[in-house]
Amino acid sequence: MNPHVPSPRPTGPAPRTAPVSARPPAVLSLRGVSQSFGAVRALVDVDLDVHAREVVAVVGDNGAGKSTLVGVMSGVTVPDSGEVMLEGVPVQLGSPAVARQLGIATVFQDLALCADLDVVENLFLGHEVRRGPVLDEIAMEREAWRLLAQLAARVPSVRVPVATLSGGQRQAVAIARALLGEPRVVILDEPTAALGVTQTAEVLNLVERLRDRGHGVVLVSHNMADVQAVADRVVVLRRGRLNGDFDADTARYEDIIAAITGASPALSGGSRAAQPRHPRGETS
Ligand SMILES: Nc1ncnc2c1ncn2[C@@H]1O[C@H](COP(=O)(O)OP(=O)(O)OP(=O)(O)O)[C@@H](O)[C@H]1O
Ligand SMILES: [Mg+2]
Repeated sequence: MNPHVPSPRPTGPAPRTAPVSARPPAVLSLRGVSQSFGAVRALVDVDLDVHAREVVAVVGDNGAGKSTLVGVMSGVTVPDSGEVMLEGVPVQLGSPAVARQLGIATVFQDLALCADLDVVENLFLGHEVRRGPVLDEIAMEREAWRLLAQLAARVPSVRVPVATLSGGQRQAVAIARALLGEPRVVILDEPTAALGVTQTAEVLNLVERLRDRGHGVVLVSHNMADVQAVADRVVVLRRGRLNGDFDADTARYEDIIAAITGASPALSGGSRAAQPRHPRGETS
């Protein structure tokens, strides 16, 4: 029962999915999470599980509660009620720093990069590696290349200002920075929103890399094409409530859209219980 900081870390590549019966407990779980802002019920009794080696897409219309959910999972927002659990152990996130220490890293939509600083400086801002009194630039450069290589991300140099990089490259730098503490869960808020076709493909590749390295990934997105390209599960929020939990391989696009818009009768009403996988399960 000790409130612990669970320790297993993601390791190298492994098969993408395990049989359902052999599945370990979720790395990150929300139970009965509610959050209001004045009269606005941004989240109502939301349950969510994120497993290792899984990309969970969170979709929903404007104002559905996605960013509020990200806030709760990343420690920005302490919910009015409900629990956050890591490997089944309730935790108090309290702040993004605490969430990071516990293994939840978030890449916010604005990326929070300093345009004038180079890639290495951005990666290690506030966590500089020192050798005695001086910065160990070589160690930081080496680590920067290692992290970017893990993501198969290409940047011309780690010594160019971030301002000179493309949107996709900046996203890669922000994700690389998230990986510094070897998090178990990486949350990405609208990572492709500002990107063109090629850069979007690069970022979706990064998301797959994260999964293949064993992280649980939460992908908040407006873009159904992105979601269907990389997600294993698609969770729908509607007016703050969970309104669907689909297996991305078998769900039909129109059923997900129906859950987003409220046209789906099956799961509306925000049942607290985990929603069943979408029944349209005939595998090919
Ligand atoms: N700090 C806040 N103060 C007041 N209301 C808020 C606050 N944050 C969110 N809300 C409200 O809570 C609801 C959910 O907002 P949230 O930002 O989580 O939605 P979202 O799904 O991220 O929407 P979008 O797709 O537009 O980003 C909205 O009605 C929003 O106006
Ligand atoms: Mg939002």
